[in-house]
Amino acid sequence: MITKEYITELKHRGNGDIATLINTQRDVGSINYILENLGQLPDNFHADFLYSLLNHNHAQVRLNAVKNIAKLNGKSDIHSLFTLYQKEDDSSVRREIVSAIGRQRKCQNKPLLYSFLNDTDPKIICQAIRGLLVFENDKEVEEHLHPFVNHENEMVRTVIYKEYFAKEKKTENTLPHTETYDFLKNVVVNADVLDALKYAPDDSIHLTFTSPPYYNARDYSIYPSYHAYLEFLDKVFRETHRITKEGRFLIINTSPIIIPRVSRSHSSKRYAIPFDLHPYLVKNGWEFIDDIIWQKPEASVKNRIGGFMQHRKPLGYKPNSVTEYLMVYRKSTEKLLDWNIRSYDCKTAEESKVADGYETTNVWKIDPCFDKVHSAVFPAELCKRVIQYYSYKNDLVFDPFAGSGTVGRTAKNLNRYFFLTEKNETYFGYMKSQKIKTLFEQKETKFFTLEQFKNATI
Ligand SMILES: C[S@@+](CC[C@H](N)C(=O)[O-])C[C@H]1O[C@@H](n2cnc3c(N)ncnc32)[C@H](O)[C@@H]1O
Repeated sequence: MITKEYITELKHRGNGDIATLINTQRDVGSINYILENLGQLPDNFHADFLYSLLNHNHAQVRLNAVKNIAKLNGKSDIHSLFTLYQKEDDSSVRREIVSAIGRQRKCQNKPLLYSFLNDTDPKIICQAIRGLLVFENDKEVEEHLHPFVNHENEMVRTVIYKEYFAKEKKTENTLPHTETYDFLKNVVVNADVLDALKYAPDDSIHLTFTSPPYYNARDYSIYPSYHAYLEFLDKVFRETHRITKEGRFLIINTSPIIIPRVSRSHSSKRYAIPFDLHPYLVKNGWEFIDDIIWQKPEASVKNRIGGFMQHRKPLGYKPNSVTEYLMVYRKSTEKLLDWNIRSYDCKTAEESKVADGYETTNVWKIDPCFDKVHSAVFPAELCKRVIQYYSYKNDLVFDPFAGSGTVGRTAKNLNRYFFLTEKNETYFGYMKSQKIKTLFEQKETKFFTLEQFKNATI
């Protein structure tokens, strides 16, 4: 059996014994095993066999050969790699070749790297860009790369934008990332969210978790058309984007809904709210991150399968809907998540750490919650997970459609601040009535009309 130790020993002999070992192998698996365990190559390494392997009929062998040739640094024969690139069909091998040439950091390779910019594979283009960005402040490189800010591929555009065009956001008048305005902390405003947000400053909240109205499926909100509904949500999440701090999250709980048929001669209509809302969000600078499925027990949802159970006729199949979505977005930024995380001091980071027993999959099995006053309240467990996984202690959590205030209550319990808007007076009154009992007693809560909120922000 060929061991890693044996490969290491042969590699250092400097007499081509590795080539002999590879040539005697019958199966591709063994060849790859040797190539993958070669590690660093010594100066006296006999590399000719690696160039022969560029013609091997297995792509993985060619890939491993390229990887090892790249380790020869200045001594790699770029011409052989480029010849293979021109005839190679396997995209992994092609990308590895471009990466190998880029990693040489040699000025004389620039023309080759420019030629890779014409490739049709966006990953090759990005790889070539990476190789070229090594030549800092090189006017010629900049002239080649600048036009790629308009490239058809979004990844290519983003890399060039970030490198050459993204300006540091001005920081004057903005609070440190972890801080926010006192007048937004633990506030509930009884107003239309769009009116209330006129008085909320840019970059002031850390997390939004909300469940918007379900179009006209429940009677607390009626919209003239589905289009008008989507346009309304578009405005709300555009404003939410404005007041969200850089790189922070928006999580929307929603699901397709059904509007019952008008009469027996019509069908009921399904509206795919999550899917229809998504393009608006992305267009407005929300980057899609994840889709989490909230799964409820079948016994807790409306029975739609009953008819089918009787007739069993294909096309008439209507499964019980036991899921809703949590659509997870991040306010687009050039900064990595690590930048957000590093903004917190050690104590806050430690105290915010998610404890054992956290959910590891994107299917969250949680029982729904039924409430006498509000018909669509969040289960506390759902809020708890979202707030724990997507915010830090002392962050400000926003819910534009607060309903009975579950987000506020949970945020408070988890030592976060909350900012809620709710236009319905009954629900607002309900939250207020909870003040003494459970909801907001420990940290003082302010219940405002729009006018009072406006005055508080001045
Ligand atoms: C699906 S419910 C949210 C329930 C909430 N998640 C809870 O746990 O109680 C949506 C809420 O949005 C409120 N709402 C609808 N349109 C609004 C608007 N334009 N501004 C503020 N609130 C609004 C409704 O009154 C309703 O209470």
